[in-house]
Amino acid sequence: MTHSSPTQSAPPRKIIIDTDPGQDDAVAILLALASPQEIDVLGITAVAGNVPLALTQKNARIVCELAGRHDVKVYAGCDRPLAHSLVTAEHVHGETGLNGPKLPDPTMPLQDQHAVDYIIDTLRSEAPGTVTLCPLGPLTNIATALQKAPDIAPRIQDIVLMGGAYFEVGNITPAAEFNIYVDPEAAEIVFKCGAPITVMPLDVTHKALVTKPRNDAFRALGTPVGTAVAQMTDFFERFDREKYGSEGAPLHDPCVTAWLIQPDLFTGRHINVEIETASPLTRGMTVADWWGVTDRAPNATFIGDVDADGFFALLTERLARL
Ligand code: BDR
Ligand code: CA
Repeated sequence: MTHSSPTQSAPPRKIIIDTDPGQDDAVAILLALASPQEIDVLGITAVAGNVPLALTQKNARIVCELAGRHDVKVYAGCDRPLAHSLVTAEHVHGETGLNGPKLPDPTMPLQDQHAVDYIIDTLRSEAPGTVTLCPLGPLTNIATALQKAPDIAPRIQDIVLMGGAYFEVGNITPAAEFNIYVDPEAAEIVFKCGAPITVMPLDVTHKALVTKPRNDAFRALGTPVGTAVAQMTDFFERFDREKYGSEGAPLHDPCVTAWLIQPDLFTGRHINVEIETASPLTRGMTVADWWGVTDRAPNATFIGDVDADGFFALLTERLARL
């Protein structure tokens, strides 16, 4: 006799989003908060990056409130990179980091605990291998946590991050992508930490372009979230259109949260990735052994391609839930 048991779906993956919002960070956070069946956002940690920390921690709370999630815990972390002064990107994101829509100042509190201590405490208190870190900005908070508490490295389930580039090379210098360039010393610590790493470099994010029909689909949701996302990408887009002549803005950071929900949208290779920290010319470059021409051990899955229509279908369907 056979017994049929009800299908049990996997519990949602517990994540900490480490972020420097940023319009594309905002969309990544919204996608995660719209997907509770797959993603359990334990907390959001802010880092200095696109704009200074005072704005990124505020923007993270603005985005949570836009999603109706005043309950999410938001922590402020490091206000400058490990070894160099902060480089910001107001030229891309505007002076607030979230230019585009008019969104109210947040009323939800910022947590008292430092983001680095929150990351350490969470990895120590949750079962080993059950917490995924999702860095969407410079890697300063994550590296500082790893330096302060090396015991957390083997407890990390995965690090899924946006950063780096190989075929697309640089966006902030000819050789380096912004998140890695801002804090290469931190990136080096993270890429050497031994935890499983999945990387969303410019090679894939530049294939996730918000074309006009895709942005019209966000706007057509007719909700505060749909309207705000359409206005954010309208703003963000002007920069990439002028620079690359592309037909829309790349949605970099949502590739991270989309991968958590639907990894089969993406393809990549498990390869060795090293960070250049010394050369003044190529500082912050992700030296990715895509072709396997060295015998350096693979340390990261470097994503190279995305089903862009599937990605935007997922994003629009999930944003509609908020
Ligand atoms: C990355 O840098 C930031 O400007 C974006 O938010 C993204 O995380 C792209 O290079
Ligand atoms: Ca970002």
